[in-house]
Amino acid sequence: MSDIALDVHISPERLLEDLRADVRQGLTATPKWLSPKWFYDATGSALFENITELPEYYPTRTERALIEAHAFDIAEKTDAPILVELGSGSSDKTRLLLTAGLKHGSLERYVPQDVSPSALEGAIDQLSREFPSLGVRGIVSDFTDTLQNLPADGRRTIAFLGGTLGNLIPDERARFLADIARALVSGEFLLLGVGLVIEESVLVPAYDDAAGVTAQFNSNVLSVLNTRLGADFDPQQFEHVALWNAEEEWIEMRLRARTAQHVHIADLELDVSFDEGEELRTEISAKFRREGIDRELVDAGFRIDEFWTDPQERFALILACREK
Ligand code: SAH
Ligand code: TRP
Repeated sequence: MSDIALDVHISPERLLEDLRADVRQGLTATPKWLSPKWFYDATGSALFENITELPEYYPTRTERALIEAHAFDIAEKTDAPILVELGSGSSDKTRLLLTAGLKHGSLERYVPQDVSPSALEGAIDQLSREFPSLGVRGIVSDFTDTLQNLPADGRRTIAFLGGTLGNLIPDERARFLADIARALVSGEFLLLGVGLVIEESVLVPAYDDAAGVTAQFNSNVLSVLNTRLGADFDPQQFEHVALWNAEEEWIEMRLRARTAQHVHIADLELDVSFDEGEELRTEISAKFRREGIDRELVDAGFRIDEFWTDPQERFALILACREK
C-alpha cells in the first residue's frame, strides 16, 4: 500500500472539519439534509460498486457501452497526454479510455481524483499493473474546491462520469462547471457522462432495487456519522426512500425515521430529534435534457463537440471543448 502513488490534497483533519460543519448545518436545518460526499467511506465505496452491477441500475452499463463505442474517437479528438478523472471511484469504465488513448499513442498519464482514498488505492494498484507504460498518480481531494491543483504540464482531458454531476444541487453545479472550464485552457476537453430524463418506472427502481443494496448504501451514511463523529444513530430505525421529483427532474434519496427518536452526536455536542416519519434528504440525482445540459455547458464556457446517447436515450456521453 505504501507504494501507491497518491497525492493527498485534502488532509484527514480538514475532511473531518468539513464533515462536522456539514452535519451541524444539515441536521439542524428544516428539512434535514446531508451532503452526498459522506457516503463514500470504504464500505460506501464498496456498496456503490455493488450498485453498479444491479439489474435495475442501468446507468453504468449504458455509459460503459457508450464509452466502448466512442473511445477511439475520443482519443483522436482530444489528443491528450493527460487524462484527469474527477470522482473516479473504481475507474472501471475508464479502462476503455486508457486502452484507446494508449493505442492512439497520445496518452501518457492518468490522474484519478476522488474523495475516497480506499477507492483510489484499489484502482491505482490495479491500473498500474494492468497498464505498466502509463503513469498513474491519484489525487485525494474534494472536486468542488481543488480543481486549481490539477497537473498543467501537458494537454489534458477531464472526465467526469457516472452521472455524478447530477448529485450536485443546481447552484453548485453551475459553479462547478465554470470551475472546470476555468481549470482548462482553450482547446482542452471535458468528457461528461449524465443521466437523461426517462420514464419514472425505469428511473426509480435504479435507486430502489429489489435486493436492497441501495437502501444499505443510503443508510451507511448514518454509520459513517457514528464512526467519525461518535453519533448513536440506529440505521435500522431509518427506511430508504427514493422518489422522482418531476418538477425538479431529479431523483431524491431520503432516510425516513420509522419512529420518533433522539440522536446524540458526541463530537458536535449536538442532540437531534426526529419525528416519526420525518425524512432526512441524503442525495439528489438530477437527470438532464439535451437542451438543458447543452445550455449549462455553453454558459460555463464550453462548445459541444459530441453528444452521444444510447438507442433508448437513457444516458448521454458529451465531449465538450473549452472555448476561449
Ligand atoms: N465515476 C465512477 C464513480 C461514481 S460514484 C463511476 O462512474 O462509476 C461517485 C464518486 O464520486 C465516488 O467515488 C465518490 O467517492 C466521489 N465523490 C463524491 N463526492 C465527491 C467530492 N465532493 N469530491 C471528490 N469525489 C467525490
Ligand atoms: N452518481 C450516482 C448516481 O446518481 C450515485 C448513486 C447511485 C447513488 N445510486 C445511489 C447515490 C444511491 C445515493 C444513493 O446515479
